[in-house]
Amino acid sequence: MRNGQDNAVGSPPKFRDGRNSRQKARAAGLDPDCWYVVEHDNGIKKGQVKEVVFWGTSIALYRGEDGQLAAVHNRCPHRQIKLSKGVVQNCKLHCMYHGWTFDREGWLVDYSHDSFGKPLLKKQLRTYPVQVRYGFIWLFPGDPEKAVAHPIPEIPELEGDNPWASVPIDFTWDAHHSMIIDNVCDFAHAFLHRKYRPFTDAKLRHYESDDNRVYLTYDTFMGGGRISGMFVDRKRVNTKFIEICYEYPYQWSNTGGSIKHWCFLLPINERRTRVFFLFYFDAFKIPATSLKMPQKLTQFVLRVSNSLLFKPLLSEDGIALEAEQHAYDHHWDEPPIELNPAVPLFQQLTVQKWENYLARTEVQTVKGPKQAVG
Ligand code: FES
Ligand SMILES: [Fe+2]
Repeated sequence: MRNGQDNAVGSPPKFRDGRNSRQKARAAGLDPDCWYVVEHDNGIKKGQVKEVVFWGTSIALYRGEDGQLAAVHNRCPHRQIKLSKGVVQNCKLHCMYHGWTFDREGWLVDYSHDSFGKPLLKKQLRTYPVQVRYGFIWLFPGDPEKAVAHPIPEIPELEGDNPWASVPIDFTWDAHHSMIIDNVCDFAHAFLHRKYRPFTDAKLRHYESDDNRVYLTYDTFMGGGRISGMFVDRKRVNTKFIEICYEYPYQWSNTGGSIKHWCFLLPINERRTRVFFLFYFDAFKIPATSLKMPQKLTQFVLRVSNSLLFKPLLSEDGIALEAEQHAYDHHWDEPPIELNPAVPLFQQLTVQKWENYLARTEVQTVKGPKQAVG
């Protein structure tokens, strides 16, 4: 199916039409019946409203003057304009146009700004469960009844009186979420990071998968950069080995039980993903000594490292991923060449979970309506 040029004909296939796991993965969504990070907790101030988008569904997320969050369907039932363009007063959301007012449960509680009397209007917007954890705002875009049964992942290192030092970083990349999983789990791209050398000489040692995750380990050399290398305590921490897991729909890594991260994806649409990284460390060492750095100082070093190291390093991935998305849009029918045997497993897991979700919604549609996104 060539057009005589270097490009495939037409657009990449939809999920149902994909001819291999890669094509299907590149069109798959992420299961809405999970919690997703949608914003940093400090990214929404009291009295502020923002639009967040989960797989094409627009949601108005706002914080009342009492500090409590709420998330509602982002469309005013009057003229269908986005409520995220409106204003928050006290704990209610007012549409920007005629001022129709909604409470946290989505009920239309006031439309008296309109001077045509007050016919009895009973309207309720769809609402979404939200909660704050680990410095992020989490939202459950699927069936709210499933929110308790599908909890937010536990990060015990960030709980209690002595939490590890941590740093959150986020990016919005013009790339499908499955490409990002391939990127963060596949250590074959040390060349891209030859300046910062976060990992080198990676050899896949082990990989396995089940219905919910793909787990793999690499023998590699972690944190080999000139600056980062000064803070890593190689006597205490084994930096020659890393565990990585695509724990659907999240991803994490663990180096020596002391350097860890989670990656939380917010799939905006088929070509755009917001990605939230959370790195956390039990402690660095004080450079040129073997002394363990106090937690507060580690936190300070991390904050400085954010703009000096983490951001520029991960931006390299963003540039490569956006180039890959652009390339895929033009060459989606090229047969995949994949040397890392774990990469097809990431794609198969994404595909299988999306198949399961579609099958569930089909059953619901037959049985009777239950609102869902897809
Ligand atoms: S469009 Fe929202 S109140 Fe009129
Ligand atoms: Fe990378």
